[in-house]
Amino acid sequence: MLLMSQKKACLILFYFFISLFACAQDVNVITESLGNIKLSFMLDEKGSPHYAVTYKQKAVINPSQLGFILENKKSFNSDFAILGTERKTVDETWKPVWGEVANIRNHYNQLTIQLQEKAALKRLLTIVFKVYEDGVGFRYEFPRQKNLKYFVVTDETTAFNLTGDHKTFWIPGDYDSNEYSYTTSKLSEVDDWKLPIISNEPRSIYEPDQYAVQTPLMMKTADGLYINIHEAALVNYPSMQLHVDRSNFVLSSNLVPDAYGNKAYLRTPSHTPWRTIIISDKAADILASKMILNLNEPSKIENPSWIQPMKFMGIWWEMQTGTGTWSYANSLDELSPSGALIPHNRHSANTANVKRYIDFAATHGIKGLLVEGWNTGWEEWYGHWNGKNFDFVTPYPDFDIKEIENYSRQKGVQMIMHNETSGDAATYDQQMDTAFQLMNQFGYNSVKTGYVGRIIPRGEHHDGQWMANHYIRAAEKAAKYHVMIDMHEPVRPTGLSRTYPNWLACEAARGNEFNAFAEGSPPEHETILPFTRLMGGPMDYTPGIFKLKGYAKGAPDRQMHSTLAKQLALYITMYSPLQMAADIPANYEAHMDAFQFIKDVAVDWDDTKIIEAEPGDYITIARKEKGKNNWFIGAVTDENSRLASVPLTYLDAGKKYVATIYADAGNADWKNNPEAYKIEKFIVTNAAVLKIQLANGGGAAVSIVPATEIDIKQLKTYKTNVK
Ligand code: NOJ
Ligand code: CA
Repeated sequence: MLLMSQKKACLILFYFFISLFACAQDVNVITESLGNIKLSFMLDEKGSPHYAVTYKQKAVINPSQLGFILENKKSFNSDFAILGTERKTVDETWKPVWGEVANIRNHYNQLTIQLQEKAALKRLLTIVFKVYEDGVGFRYEFPRQKNLKYFVVTDETTAFNLTGDHKTFWIPGDYDSNEYSYTTSKLSEVDDWKLPIISNEPRSIYEPDQYAVQTPLMMKTADGLYINIHEAALVNYPSMQLHVDRSNFVLSSNLVPDAYGNKAYLRTPSHTPWRTIIISDKAADILASKMILNLNEPSKIENPSWIQPMKFMGIWWEMQTGTGTWSYANSLDELSPSGALIPHNRHSANTANVKRYIDFAATHGIKGLLVEGWNTGWEEWYGHWNGKNFDFVTPYPDFDIKEIENYSRQKGVQMIMHNETSGDAATYDQQMDTAFQLMNQFGYNSVKTGYVGRIIPRGEHHDGQWMANHYIRAAEKAAKYHVMIDMHEPVRPTGLSRTYPNWLACEAARGNEFNAFAEGSPPEHETILPFTRLMGGPMDYTPGIFKLKGYAKGAPDRQMHSTLAKQLALYITMYSPLQMAADIPANYEAHMDAFQFIKDVAVDWDDTKIIEAEPGDYITIARKEKGKNNWFIGAVTDENSRLASVPLTYLDAGKKYVATIYADAGNADWKNNPEAYKIEKFIVTNAAVLKIQLANGGGAAVSIVPATEIDIKQLKTYKTNVK
């Protein structure tokens, strides 16, 4: 304890010294700023690089260590002198292939610091800082040089020395899973090992550091500043977790290791991903930040016309809830006299069932259909770490791939392929060409991949360097075959969908599916995910569950932690260019009026307005459909009811629109009455402020389209303050 406070005292002294030094002579403190953000770089008396960040002149990151430890415990974080500095300003606008907005401004001041070791080896290290109006991104570059060519990073010593015991929304530092509910606590209370172990959850639980948390890490200071720490462009490097020093509030980089405990194998010239710190005194600004996308490379796909956001259904929820199965037979050991699998007749991916889903999707204009469990291997797919379980090309006998191709083409429904690897990325690497050729042959233009279970090559982790590269290999290979990709159980995204826009979505968090096979997550979950997991990119959260209780076979008490109206709101608040209508057709047929919102809602946007937001409490977002004058609004709350206040100032002035409001009914409540909703239509203008009551654990969705003359005659005008 004494030691900790001594350390803190030293840091304070160092900071004091730095400020004095900065005033006295501008030698060792170099600054760069933009708007409210100021970045300082300095070398301490040991030649160790440090940086600090302020927002509106207040410290956000106190002087914090930079650098590395290389193989054989050789430090590469001290004994430096500054060799040179460079500055530049960039202010450009680019258009994403798809996204939340049509144009993205990339405006930053860049400060590049070239360092050289003073002692014998004289190795070079460059640190590039990009200072944005909403924070700072920085990365390390290793220039081509004589005394550093092939090298192994055994630790990165980047730290984030925070100014206090901030409120933090965290999940534990698991090397293999992000599928946790969030804990909200002070930094001093972070403790992975105190989290309850939930027995029926298939989580991997590999959390060697009791005090490590995942990024994106969302924090709020006592005086109302929001700070988000993550990374951008995770390429050829392990993902960064943060070790929390619970006494001094210093976060330090904890890279995910390989089987040898090494972190990264690099060759010069090369660089690390960007470390990102997004800062604002408004929570909405965190959600609106485009810094992570801006720090990624532009698209590598020259003609992306084949990449199209879409909504899809799936032969999926019936397996998740236990009414159907992925598998075809009970056992691989009991075969018919001719050596064939003996069907147990509960297999969901059979041709007749697939056709029923195709019919439903075609009737309601849902573009895509995912079918899981179509290929052999599901009898023993999970938990054996044995490898070579799936070949990704052999259908079960009752799945007629040719017949389904013909039928789906005829009905205009786009089939979505499923490649579950069971964590055997090594086999997937070998089989990818074959798998993508099959997709091309039978008209599948997208694939959902999955990495459930422990990774093969054994000793690798989902979030380590080898797997980070594997996910990119899969995205690149998919692009070669003009296939869009959605990855489940990958490392959490870092904005790489800018570079590979066919990489539409990822799971990499605890999705809606946990409500099917396990306890699920509390109602606040969806008010936290946009501030954490979604900072790095779209999530395939699988919204749209309409039967909210009594859907799980063998678990009659299981229920969603949501109202039906909130399920609609998620299509807006959980951004993804790929959105699933996740429930089964029968449950939609029971609520066709509410299903209309899912039919109407867009998946690609020209504009986005974050209307209200507070992590852990509520989020309201309005989005404008790409190329159209339609707006869609989603509002979600945590376990507390609230009155959402939604101004419509962004609608065209002088124009009348029809607003269809899908809201919780007055007596709705996620626990006791989740399926109670009401739908109302009004004429609105940009002067209206919608006041919508959200139930406990509830939400609301609104579609707004230009009004016709008939609408104007028939519908009432919305009166602000009408509830
Ligand atoms: C886990 C995925 O998240 C889920 O969506 C999928 O159905 C199963 N794995 C089987 O691949
Ligand atoms: Ca999953």
